[in-house]
Amino acid sequence: MPDISEDGRTWVLSGPASSYAVHITERDELLHLHWGPRIALADAEALAARPLPDHWPFESSLDGREEYPVEGGPRFTRPALSVRGAGRRGTEWVYEGHEAGDGGLRLRFRDGGLLITLHYRMPPATDVVERWVSLDNRGPAVEVLRADSATWTLPERDTWRLSQLHGRWGAESRLARSELTPGEKVVGSRRGHTSHQHLPWVALDTDATEERGEVYGCALGWSGSWRIAVARLPDARVQITGGAGHDDSGLLTLGPGEAYTTPVFAGLWNDGGFGGASRAWHAYQRDHVVPDAGRDRPVLFNSWEATGFDISEEQQRALAERAAALGVELFVVDDGWFGARTGDRAGLGDWTPNPDRFPGGLGPLARHVHGLGMRFGIWVEPEMVNPDSELYRAHPDWVQHQPGRKRTEFRNQLVLNLAREDVREYLWERLDRLLSSAPVDYVKWDFNRCFTDAGWPDDPYPQRLWVDHVRALYALLDRLRAAHPGVAFESCSGGGGRVDLGVLSRTDQVWTSDNTDPLDRLAIQHGFSQIHPARVMAAWVTDSPNAMLNHRSSSLRFRFVSAMAGVLGIGGDLTRWTREELAEAGDWVRLYKEIRPVVQRGDLYRLRPPEGGLSAVQYVLGDEAVVLAWLQAQRYGEPVPALRLRGLDPAATYECLETGEVHRGGVLLHHGLRVGLCGDLDAAVVRLKRK
Ligand code: DGJ
Repeated sequence: MPDISEDGRTWVLSGPASSYAVHITERDELLHLHWGPRIALADAEALAARPLPDHWPFESSLDGREEYPVEGGPRFTRPALSVRGAGRRGTEWVYEGHEAGDGGLRLRFRDGGLLITLHYRMPPATDVVERWVSLDNRGPAVEVLRADSATWTLPERDTWRLSQLHGRWGAESRLARSELTPGEKVVGSRRGHTSHQHLPWVALDTDATEERGEVYGCALGWSGSWRIAVARLPDARVQITGGAGHDDSGLLTLGPGEAYTTPVFAGLWNDGGFGGASRAWHAYQRDHVVPDAGRDRPVLFNSWEATGFDISEEQQRALAERAAALGVELFVVDDGWFGARTGDRAGLGDWTPNPDRFPGGLGPLARHVHGLGMRFGIWVEPEMVNPDSELYRAHPDWVQHQPGRKRTEFRNQLVLNLAREDVREYLWERLDRLLSSAPVDYVKWDFNRCFTDAGWPDDPYPQRLWVDHVRALYALLDRLRAAHPGVAFESCSGGGGRVDLGVLSRTDQVWTSDNTDPLDRLAIQHGFSQIHPARVMAAWVTDSPNAMLNHRSSSLRFRFVSAMAGVLGIGGDLTRWTREELAEAGDWVRLYKEIRPVVQRGDLYRLRPPEGGLSAVQYVLGDEAVVLAWLQAQRYGEPVPALRLRGLDPAATYECLETGEVHRGGVLLHHGLRVGLCGDLDAAVVRLKRK
């Protein structure tokens, strides 16, 4: 419940360590007052009493101070809301009132027939502020050109630094940090999905380190095209505006009686450095976003790198038997089990088992896998179709396309128009039937191309398909989860092309990257961990040399310890692993199961980043700690530096389960732990237990 001033015009939301305050003036200007350490209502009132700066006509006194800048009036900053209707553009709202309760706040405004509500929520025991906006049209039709979820305002500081996660296929979520110079930095996706190129997250700091200093972070929960604009304004303030859609050319129209709710844009202030911010984001996602996050994810085997499209029931049975012997808990048959899918040219859209490959359907293999003590999973890519498929031959008009234009193919596939009700119903009916036809426990949901010809002939406002596609995807996942509560879902998009808070609220884990090289992975995982927890970060051990990306050879030890930093999986061709390799792999799987609760549910400390020769992470849960360390290359015969641990009790003693040595907590924190790594691509796991 927010603190509210007596005049009902100032509100303060507070979490365990932070507060967020806003104020509405007598002129109905909604001003941002504070986002940072905890303050009292009296502090917020003192801030509200400060006069707005008096400016020459070339600056606006509202710019950089408003909570949700709308288009029009005395403003020059990027508007968060831009609507057009009744022959005019822009918004001039009047304040109508507020509702407060349950850690939340709603501020209501009206412009003619358009009701605009700003929503705020701080879920219990977190400093994350969730913000979103709803539009409810009670008047004549309006076109919503842009409706961002929120604008975040940061205080005046001399300099600001921006952190972002960027990449491409096979190289997702790499961390970049740069000074924020005056003007705007825009990140986003124009691709119809979250994208490999940018994760919808930014962080701003002035001089934070991994464990100290203020960090502001914002993360958007949207799996379609999106945009986050970070502006450094002339008076050294920063505003971050973000939401669905990649430009301002139109999101949707709202007819009389129609409503639209934006996705959530979540913000977090933290003064524990980048590490503290990540731990707070992780806890928030485990407690409030990811379904069933208290339950640890199983060790899986996935057939993709082992067999590609060339699959058969017999070969999958052989792999399953080897996987089960290693202690694998979930066996997933990837692409190639359905329709005429013997390569990437055909079959997408036809979600029935290929009769040559699975003459009895998926049931016999699923039951065999269950008989081996594992759960059974399958790969699907429901939003896509190959032109060479029964589905496309029957419904060529079901794909996104522009009338009279070429239909661009990527990976020989087109995108189904999920904004169409008939397409949505078809997918629901097919997937529901598939999940009912065999004992399937897990669905890997892939998405392997971006939107290009996002048209919808005959629809009066085809532009809406960008937003409606994502809403349809979410509705389909929600409906399937409700109808098949025992089935877990993985979000995949050619690796990490669809990782965001929106998809994470309806999937159990995500495929981090198609790059399974264990060294490259350390940097990808380092970036991923800035925002998302190990509990959702799938990582596989594959063959060496790495066949997918770079032919780098690495030991089974290095591959396992790299993948053990997240949800461990195996993706190699087990039928070609030697007896010794299989025995060693079984030992690693056993070890992973022991450390799994600490990795998947513990607090993460990044001890050393992956750029140097030695990198390491540590997880702490209750009395247990786990350190994973990797040495890329030893130079000049020098011993690797000791790792200064974090998150331990300095007054306690800890036993190392690998060596039996007993360490003082204070010594580990201040002098560090030596891990005996040497040579190239070496790795170690160290378990510590408080005595
Ligand atoms: C892309 C995924 O990232 C891979 O893991 C695999 O599932 C292929 N698609 C299958 O086509």
